[in-house]
Formats: sequence, C-alpha cells, structure tokens
Amino acid sequence: MLIEQEFRKIFGASPEVVVRAPGRVNLIGEHTDYNQGFVLPAAIDRYCWYAGRRRPGTEVHVYSVDFQKRAQFDLSRIERDGIDHWSDYLRGVSKLIQETGASLSGAEIVLGGDVPREAGLSSSAAVEIGASAFWKKLINLDADPVSLAKLAQAAENDFMGIPCGIMDQFVSALGRKDHALFLDCRDLHYRHVPLGANAKIVVCNSGVKRTLAQSEYEIRTQQCAEAVRRLRSAGVAANSLRDVSIEDLNRSKHALDDVLLRRARHVVTENNRVLDAVKALQEGDPNHFGKLMNQSHASLRDDYQVSCLELDTLVELAQKQPGVFGARMTGAGFGGCTVNLVRQEAAGAFADAVRDGYRKALGIEAEIYTFQASDGAMAAL
Ligand code: GLA
Repeated sequence: MLIEQEFRKIFGASPEVVVRAPGRVNLIGEHTDYNQGFVLPAAIDRYCWYAGRRRPGTEVHVYSVDFQKRAQFDLSRIERDGIDHWSDYLRGVSKLIQETGASLSGAEIVLGGDVPREAGLSSSAAVEIGASAFWKKLINLDADPVSLAKLAQAAENDFMGIPCGIMDQFVSALGRKDHALFLDCRDLHYRHVPLGANAKIVVCNSGVKRTLAQSEYEIRTQQCAEAVRRLRSAGVAANSLRDVSIEDLNRSKHALDDVLLRRARHVVTENNRVLDAVKALQEGDPNHFGKLMNQSHASLRDDYQVSCLELDTLVELAQKQPGVFGARMTGAGFGGCTVNLVRQEAAGAFADAVRDGYRKALGIEAEIYTFQASDGAMAAL
C-alpha cells in the first residue's frame, strides 16, 4: 500500500494502523440536509488514507503526502494552525473525540489521498472521517459510525467554522459498495439502495474553484431559516422546510418575498424529488431517475440560484448526449462538479463529447471521472 510506504519513508517504521475514508458524490437532494430533508449520495472510490502508530507522550506528528509538509500539535491544547490548514481537520476531530471523554495517545501519522480537492467531492469530509476512523482503530474507541459522522460534522462546524449539513460525513462513514445511501437528515434513518448495473455515475469537474460557495452557503441557510419563521407566522406548522408541503407553500406564499419563495420552493420540491428518485432506483427506472436529476438542476439554477455558467454549460452539453438519463450540478454549487447518470456502454463517448464541447464553449479542460460507489470508512490494516 502506498500510504504504508510513505509512512516508512517519513517515520522509518511500519504503521500500526491504516484506514481509508471515501469522498462522495451526491446523486440528488441538494441543499436539503441542513433543512432536515432527504439526500441520496454515494461514497466514491477515491479516498483519504491515514497510516500511523502510537508514540509516547501527547504530541501528534503528522505528515501530508499531498502538501509534502509536516505539522505537529499537542493533544493537551489543540488549536487551529494559522498556516497549515490541512492539519486542522485532524486537530478538530482529535479535540472533539477528547471532549467525549476518550483519551488519545501521542501518534505519528501520514495522510494522503486521491479525492480531488475543492471540487465539491467532499475531500474535507474524507479527511475528517478518516481522522475519526484512525483514532477509533488506534485506541479501540467504542464509537459507531453514526456518532463518528456527527462528531466530524461538529468538527467542521465548530472547529473549522464552516457551516455544513451532515450528508458528506455521513456517507463517507456509512456508504456501501454499489449502493447509494438514502438518508433522512432529521432523524438520521438511512437505507442503502442498490445502483442498477447498467447505469454509470460519470462526474465532470468544471475546474472552477468554489470561491463564492461558503458565503453564499451561509446566506442560503439564513434564508431558509427566515422562510420557516415567516411561514410559521402565517400559520404553517413547521420546524424546518422539511415540514412544509407544496400545498402549504402555495397557500402561504404571500408571507414570503420572491427570493424566499424561490429558496423554499427548491427545498420543498427537491425533497419530493429525492423520494421519487429512490422509488425510481428501486423500480429499475433510470429514465425517471434522470428526469428528476434534470429537474433538480433547473431548480438549483433558477430557484436556489447556486449554479454558474460553467456548471450550466456542462449540464446542457450532457443532457444532449445519447445514452444520458440525467445531469445536474452536485454539491454546494458555484463551481465544482456535475453528476451524470449514463448508460453503461455510452459512458466513454459521453466523456469525450462533453470534454470536447466544454473546451469549445469555454476553453476549459474538464476532468471527467467514472466512479464506482464504494464502502464507507474502514480499516485496511
Ligand atoms: C455541501 C455541504 C453539505 C450539503 C451540500 C449541499 O457539500 O457540506 O452538507 O449541504 O453542500 O447539498
């Protein structure tokens, strides 16, 4: 294993523990998780890897293969690093595990991986879940994957200061090979749904870094909360947009301005699309699943307004190709990737045509991946 070799190179010994945690692609259910709604992501066969062993004392020495840098912190006072942000995910997760009462040991750690960064494929969730899986294995932590997912989300929210829902961490911890994961973000009930054998998940990276994503994401969360407040004062019994039906919305839309109505309409209709999509998947109906993906994109573009020219271009090109069931932006938006459901035998020609079309339209070279749905975090040694 590559990460083991790296560990030996850096620390001159074999690791005690090797774990991996996957990135994710969301098939449908966008901007619904923080509204207590439904999502349908899949873990992908790109991973963040950790190799490590105990060392005496309370210091953690860590090396990043990707950044070719070392960092060091003491478990007795964990703070964010002003410079080496890549180590902050490990710091945050370590801090929160200790706050549960568990005592960690000093460690030597090497981490690295192949989840594309800043592409909307949750490389940060993979780093967080990888960190929690690493400690679980190293110190025999008695924690189930759901609590590790919650802890990793809390690390991102409270330690890193980045607002996000639970979707990414949850699927990185609990994904299953060849399955999508249907999750109810209100009570965290989940179910694995088999992905049909003859449709491929093809992901196109727009190459646009998501600079606007964080500030716009925060604005969207506030707008959703405000929409709920106003709907409640108009008499709708709702704790979140999850509780609002399309009939409620139509009846009480006078309580919302145009922007809030659009935001709410996206969330309400997207939740319904996820439920329909799960049904379509179970019934082996990729055509219907694809239609829902197309509708999801239109709703994210027009109502939630989180798409951009590059994502729209990729989606329009994709929807014209033979053998395509559906295409949409995936993740928070404002750059990153699109996800496409493509008939197995058409996947190669699809990738070539979209790459060509994108280059011609915008002069950008798109990276295109064909992912296999994979298992969530696991120990490899
Ligand atoms: C980011 C967040 C997720 C989710 C998506 C949008 O990936 O981390 O929690 O909100 O955006 O669906």
